[in-house]
Amino acid sequence: MLDQKTIETIKSTVPVLEVHGEQITTVFYKTMFENHPELLNIFNHANQKQGRQQRALAGTVYAAAKYIDNLEAILPVVNQIAHKHRSLGILPEHYPIVGKHLLIAIKEVLGDAATDEIINAWADAYGVIADAFISVEAEMYDEAASQRGGWKDFRPFIVAKRVEESEVITSFYLKPVDGKAIASFKPGQYISIKLEIEGEEFTHIRQYSLSDAPGKDYYRISVKKEAGMESPDGKVSNYLHNSVEEGEVLQISAPAGDFFLDTQKDTPVVLLSGGVGLTPMVSMLNTVAELQPEKEVTFIHAAQNGKVHALKDEVAATAAKAKVNSVVFYDQPTEEDRQNNSFDVEGYITKEWLKENVNLEQSDFYFCGPVPFMKAVNSALKDLGVAEDRIHFEFFGPMASLEA
Ligand code: HEM
Repeated sequence: MLDQKTIETIKSTVPVLEVHGEQITTVFYKTMFENHPELLNIFNHANQKQGRQQRALAGTVYAAAKYIDNLEAILPVVNQIAHKHRSLGILPEHYPIVGKHLLIAIKEVLGDAATDEIINAWADAYGVIADAFISVEAEMYDEAASQRGGWKDFRPFIVAKRVEESEVITSFYLKPVDGKAIASFKPGQYISIKLEIEGEEFTHIRQYSLSDAPGKDYYRISVKKEAGMESPDGKVSNYLHNSVEEGEVLQISAPAGDFFLDTQKDTPVVLLSGGVGLTPMVSMLNTVAELQPEKEVTFIHAAQNGKVHALKDEVAATAAKAKVNSVVFYDQPTEEDRQNNSFDVEGYITKEWLKENVNLEQSDFYFCGPVPFMKAVNSALKDLGVAEDRIHFEFFGPMASLEA
């Protein structure tokens, strides 16, 4: 436990961190990667370049500082990050490296203002926060390894099948090389893929949502080909699209993530997705159709047009079998889309449309998509009075804020 004086010192430095937080984490990453380049095998270079990871870590450090005497209050956040860490293979021995470089960065950015008292208080506080993460993650590793078909680190899977789902999205069906059972998962969870790309110095790890229901002998991911191969964002997805054929072996970590459908509830659900955000939603849809076919589901998908609309036939077939109302929005339909009647509404999902068309009083809402889509859906649902405990969402990449 931290003593009262340390707690006070930590709390009084929160405003300073809020001013310099991002600068501190930028220096932190730079120094840490200089001293420990091997960590570039774990960190996502795209997130580093765009500063997204800096913001995510800075935000968590403030939160931890504010709640340092009551870390229980931020347990949901710890849990979400711990899922990501477990999926990436972060280990207890990594924590002192991060702690050391965080303190170096605080000293460098704050200069004389970083007194010994402040630095010592932060060293103690970091220890408490790190212990909280390490113990939550240890439980997650145990759980991942001990369940039927589970495993602890990365396990080789073969690409059993590739299916082009749209001009930009391709599904990969992955089966374990050892031919043994694979762990079940909750619809909405993701896996990490660790890739070695020829000519690249470091490995790349990326998370992809599982896009089919659990209980099969494969995992399916459906990957969008992001911008060019040269952009850090597109590197891995382009590699998967262009170079990973059937028969190729990929290293996969066991399913993780705290964004998943509550299959205990019988009340209606509304699943909303934008673009490739549909992947966890299709997993949820397929699961409900198999396990709770009587449950009322509204599946709302927004895409630009039919050319980039993935898994269209699969969703339509599932909708026909279960109690699913499927609605497709295109904001830039093509002439062909019009002729084929391949969408229901032209434009974006709006508050007014939701008010008229979904059960706002009873439904749980799950959504995933690009940030502007998420912001629009989140604020519409709040304005319409949907209780916060019925709103569930997940970001691609590091957490961001949904506030305007
Ligand atoms: C992701 C916080 C320790 C490696 C994250 C995220 C946060 C975070 C907020 C983003 C989560 C998300 O996107 O959902 C922290 C805090 C730590 C800590 C507060 C210390 C108490 C570590 C350690 C390592 C590590 C020790 C390994 C050296 C990563 C990696 C990611 C990540 C690789 C994924 C994002 C990326 O690749 O850029 N962490 N973390 N973290 N963390 Fe940590």
